[in-house]
Amino acid sequence: MAGDIWNAQQYLRFENDRLRPFLDLVTQLDPDGEVRTVVDLGCGPGNATALLVDWWPDARIVGVDSSPAMIEAARQHAVPGHIEFELGDLRDWHPDDKVDVLLANAVLQWIPDHLDLLPSLTAQVAPGGVFGFQVPGNFEAPSHLALAEVKRKWADRVPPGLDRPGSHDPAVYLGKLAEAGLEPDVWETTYTYLVPADPDPGVPCGVTEFVRGTALRPVVKALNEADAADFVAEYDALVRTAYPLHEIGGRTVQLLDYRRIFAIGRSA
Ligand SMILES: C[S@@+](CC[C@H](N)C(=O)[O-])C[C@H]1O[C@@H](n2cnc3c(N)ncnc32)[C@H](O)[C@@H]1O
Repeated sequence: MAGDIWNAQQYLRFENDRLRPFLDLVTQLDPDGEVRTVVDLGCGPGNATALLVDWWPDARIVGVDSSPAMIEAARQHAVPGHIEFELGDLRDWHPDDKVDVLLANAVLQWIPDHLDLLPSLTAQVAPGGVFGFQVPGNFEAPSHLALAEVKRKWADRVPPGLDRPGSHDPAVYLGKLAEAGLEPDVWETTYTYLVPADPDPGVPCGVTEFVRGTALRPVVKALNEADAADFVAEYDALVRTAYPLHEIGGRTVQLLDYRRIFAIGRSA
């Protein structure tokens, strides 16, 4: 990934919504025997990693992330000898010993050839251990189509070759995990989130703020401040049309469909 595109504070604005797929993934992990090590690749701001103690209180839990900004935020959750965070690229990650639980939540989509990486990642799982990951499956959603549309209009100002997330169909992941000799368990879920939104069109709406924490980041980071604001305003206008405002429970909200693909491989 070129430079550090991440901003932990923006990412955490929708902490509960982002956490939900992580929790739904972890709940399905069922390693056999004692769990001594848990590694969370692409751990981000570490809030999710820290929750793994509830599942495996006696394990050494390590979060790894390539973003200095995210690791700095994550270190607030560190407990020496118990929960640790390391700066590192998961593509070069080689643990000293095999791990019992290996996780990669909402990260592999940022690595274009991540299918090729799966054999080396699964090889790090101890016998009886599990590898679980979750990726978005919403790249054809209006939020992402709008982003592609504005990027096309801005082609002369948005540098080419920016990081663009992408994922595969569930069956593709299932095949890869089986090929790697793991027992696969793959599924998908579409959440419908209520995202609070300001009716004032001069203020970026909730869906824009949500996407600003992830898929919009490479563009916003690549432009100067004024251009980034103009880009976001154009994006916001499309998103406000695609995601109309509703009054629900006394709040002005947008309904954001959030499709996620989950994959678990169990090692015999
Ligand atoms: C959408 S965030 C997910 C954070 C966290 N896993 C969660 O569930 O909230 C994606 C994270 O992946 C990290 N990341 C992207 N590419 C990476 C790589 N090659 N190696 C390690 N981390 C990476 C980013 O720095 C970012 O913190």
